[in-house]
Amino acid sequence: MNDFLWGGATASYQCEGGWQEGGRVESMWDVYLHENHLENGDVASDHYHRFREDIRMMKEGGQNSYRFSLAWPRIIKNREGEVNQEGVDFYNRLIDACLEYGITPMVTIFHWDLPQYLEEKGGWLNRDTCVAYTHYAKVCFDRFGDRVKLWATFNEPRYYTNSGYLIGNYPPGHQDIQETVTASYYMMLASAMAVEVFRTGGYDGQIGIVHSFSPVYTTDTSVESAIARRFADNFYNNWILDTAAIGEIPGDLLGELKKTCDLSMMTPEDLAVIRQNRVDYLGLNYYARVMVKPYESGETTLIVNNQGKKAKGTSQTIIKGWFEQVRPESSRYTEWDTEIFPEGLYEGIRQVWNKYHLPIYITENGIGLYEDTSVKRVEDDDRIEFMDMHIAAVLKAKEGGCDVRGYYAWSPFDLYSWKNGTEKRYGLVAIDYENGLERRPKKSYYWYKDVIETDGKHITGK
Ligand code: BG6
Repeated sequence: MNDFLWGGATASYQCEGGWQEGGRVESMWDVYLHENHLENGDVASDHYHRFREDIRMMKEGGQNSYRFSLAWPRIIKNREGEVNQEGVDFYNRLIDACLEYGITPMVTIFHWDLPQYLEEKGGWLNRDTCVAYTHYAKVCFDRFGDRVKLWATFNEPRYYTNSGYLIGNYPPGHQDIQETVTASYYMMLASAMAVEVFRTGGYDGQIGIVHSFSPVYTTDTSVESAIARRFADNFYNNWILDTAAIGEIPGDLLGELKKTCDLSMMTPEDLAVIRQNRVDYLGLNYYARVMVKPYESGETTLIVNNQGKKAKGTSQTIIKGWFEQVRPESSRYTEWDTEIFPEGLYEGIRQVWNKYHLPIYITENGIGLYEDTSVKRVEDDDRIEFMDMHIAAVLKAKEGGCDVRGYYAWSPFDLYSWKNGTEKRYGLVAIDYENGLERRPKKSYYWYKDVIETDGKHITGK
């Protein structure tokens, strides 16, 4: 396990703060949250100022890798593509701090904070954003590629486009199937375009994509359920994984979409770029599986619980004509309706490995909890139990021959959980938002350190 990466993962908007500092321009999230008077990431965990302390704590917690994202609005000033040197300097300091502490940086180029100047021109509905993204990615490879050897083009394009264009709970807050398809397609095209730049530029290292992975289960083994499963797998996974790893958008998915959507943006030239520029590895963010049954009735419905205990049990997914999500009664759920199902991670890794035969990183895994952080040490036994079961699943898959190369806890310290605000905590280190953002390791921080230092010897899987 010598070269296995054990780390924690964050995203720029969720932890940095410093939203008006260092020449950073506005992102679509700043505008959306400010305009709607919602809890925002203006300060977040103040990682922008405290990254050294955070990275030092990762090191002291035994971690040997840090997955973080770069904020496009810090690096590229405007639609003309001008580079903001102050933003580059900030990430140089952050990357250097990682190396100083012996921490391997794994860098996500885009984790949802699109510059507002691009959103105003249509954002991911406009092919120009793919071109702008490719320029931005090249700037990142040029400026940081001497030290960063592990890149991810995108974090969770599926979750981002579903939330922003279908559910409408994330910016730009639309509910439109055509837009969902267009934005998803352009993100996958942009990913392939960045891979092309990476390959032709001869940069050293590996480039992959990070996917919100939901292995699909069915309630029975009927033919109808198998069909529902295929629909759901296309919806949740294949659209991203097949496209990135094989270079092909699933043909049956395109056939279905053609019935109601305009796919003329998928030009033969761009499809060739997708086909020719596949990723080196797959990053899987695993929170839960999805169980489905054949579609019976009702309009397409997607309800996500962003309110925790106030809305417990309200989550629902129906994709008209395709499938309906089932929530197994006997399972345990978090206050935000996420099923706790570690077996899904084991099965899922096996499925992905057998299908694509690419190296796998578990780029996010963790549990959101309500926690009282005014105490000296948060005794987060629920998180420890959750991580234990999930790390056991990862190790079992690895021992079974799957090429899993790393595990990243979401998150190394508390951060802003998008529409759930800061009350939904994921960190191994507590951040006292009320008292000067003081950092205090939770029980899980020390537990994870022991896991890493003993190569998982004390993992129980229970
Ligand atoms: C993933 C994202 O979807 O899950 C993170 O990559 C996100 O950005 C994490 O924070 C947990 O989800 P949530 O909605 O509970 O914050």
